[in-house]
Amino acid sequence: MMTVNEIRQKYLEFFKSKGHRVIPSASLVPENDPTTLFTSSGMQPLIPYLLGQEYPLGKRLANSQKSFRAEDIEEVGDNRHTTFFEMLGNWSLGDYWKEEQLPWFFEFVTDVLKIDPQRLYVSVWSGAEGVPKDEDSIAIWQKLFGEKGIKDAKYAEMVTEEAASERGMQPGERIFGYQKKNWWSRSGAPDKMPVGEPGGPDSEMFYDFDPSGAMHKPEFGKYCHPNCDCGRFIEIGNSVFMEYRKKEDGSFEKLPQRNVDFGGGLERMAMVLTGTPDIFGIDVFANISRSLVKSGVISGSVDIRRLRVVLDHARAAIFLANDGVVQSNKGQGYVLRRLVRRAVMFAKLLDLNAPWFGVVLDSLTESYPELKQNKVFIETTLREEIDKFSDLIGSGAEEIQKTFSKGITAIDAFNLHQTYGFPWELTKELAKERGVYIDEDEVQEEFKKHQELSRTASAGVFKGGLADSSEKVVRLHTATHLMNAALRKVLGESVWQKGSNITEERTRFDFTHGEKMTEEQKKEVEKIVNDVIARDYEVKKEIMPLEEARKLNAIGVFGEKYPDTVSVYTVWDPKTQEVFSREFCGGPHVTHTGEIGKFRIIKEEAVAAGIRRIKAGVGDVNN
Ligand code: SER
Repeated sequence: MMTVNEIRQKYLEFFKSKGHRVIPSASLVPENDPTTLFTSSGMQPLIPYLLGQEYPLGKRLANSQKSFRAEDIEEVGDNRHTTFFEMLGNWSLGDYWKEEQLPWFFEFVTDVLKIDPQRLYVSVWSGAEGVPKDEDSIAIWQKLFGEKGIKDAKYAEMVTEEAASERGMQPGERIFGYQKKNWWSRSGAPDKMPVGEPGGPDSEMFYDFDPSGAMHKPEFGKYCHPNCDCGRFIEIGNSVFMEYRKKEDGSFEKLPQRNVDFGGGLERMAMVLTGTPDIFGIDVFANISRSLVKSGVISGSVDIRRLRVVLDHARAAIFLANDGVVQSNKGQGYVLRRLVRRAVMFAKLLDLNAPWFGVVLDSLTESYPELKQNKVFIETTLREEIDKFSDLIGSGAEEIQKTFSKGITAIDAFNLHQTYGFPWELTKELAKERGVYIDEDEVQEEFKKHQELSRTASAGVFKGGLADSSEKVVRLHTATHLMNAALRKVLGESVWQKGSNITEERTRFDFTHGEKMTEEQKKEVEKIVNDVIARDYEVKKEIMPLEEARKLNAIGVFGEKYPDTVSVYTVWDPKTQEVFSREFCGGPHVTHTGEIGKFRIIKEEAVAAGIRRIKAGVGDVNN
């Protein structure tokens, strides 16, 4: 059986052989992009290039992008959802098109992974919004299936999922036309897209785990079809033909270039190769389960849904911490806290013995060697939250006791969930022990209301359009480079960037340093940065081989992998040739430091052992 690591390697080799350059995964925390909390697809870090900016490595790229989807937290427990996953990507930045991409993906799946084509089904855009039905993809798929002996692969127009579940699939049908399901943009269907957002029709591939159809249950709809949620079909890849951009008047115009954005589910492909419809059966998860049994953390049989939650959340939390996220009450840190708390709760429900987390981390470090270098940081960061929360639930938080002594309503159950991160399942168990009845439908109703709200909120996140490159953000971005260089001058070269996040109001910069900065040190950093601003140094961008950039002492984010051709920003004085700062960076930046305005440190604080955080602003800085 091919492991996740083997599939990833084979995929990257395959696309390399088709002229692609392999690029490393970007961080799970988007840099300089305040419009979204996490990287949740491969295209996100590439948006400027999909819109036409030149990519240093050319027009054909492939990678495996670490992705995290917070909105799927509550879905975890079934056979296919995980919050963290790797998205295999191949991109044509205005280069090849459907005629190349669909056959390549099909070749990879059927010839390299050796998946039986009889089990494959595809979907295409059925047409709407002034964008016609994707006849080209239909013809390409018919030819590809034909070459594998599946003659006359029939097209069926489903349009909506409701219509599809009323109609079902007829013999010989393999290519299905849907509307909303076959349009891709970051914000979803055409009507949800903000002005300027790129998107386009897509074509998805599904694997059929159960040709007999026995897996289908009527609660998922009358009949099964590729986009049905019963679990029989699993989507393994999505080729987006990104050639449109939303216009002011709500219609679409063509982008300056036609792009292909392919995203494939690495873990889902591994799941297909196991032959069993359970994503938690793939090697990386199966290894953890085995270690948990071997080390005695699990004894006897366990509730599989609960175990899946522990495995998923622990893996996601570990990867978030690996990218520098530290638990807090806001933003990324809050999501991490929720993940860890849910994992602790479910571990408790499962009666897992205390060292469960250490066993999970050891096993994952074996499967993903990239975690090795940050293992101590990950362990210290997450352990703190695990211990605190275990104590809280162990001692029976006062609030919970109070709630239970009054009897518990659906709203209480929901509040326990929102405030303490108590999973509903646990509240139910506690309540059951005490013989308290809670109306489950009412609780689900509360959750639904909340989900609607957060969906609207996350749609709002995209209101500003693309990754924010407003003037203020750009000025703060260059100021961040200056601050990084100044910190290394004042505190020493052991300072390394761990992460950064920039909004209109401030830049937030995390870096390695053991102690609190003194007032003098902060003043000194401010002075150095403001001096360089006053001298109006030039900011220049160069594309160069990684080796050359390293020779020039360009600095980057600690532990980050860079491709072999990189973009480097240098802040320098062209007259004296003095270089003040040189960093690996994709930009954008101001052209001269004088554009930045006055720089000021707003706050300096600890975020974790050995990691400090600075918030700083430029111009009229608010506290
Ligand atoms: N952007 C598409 C997706 O996330 C394909 O990469 O599905």
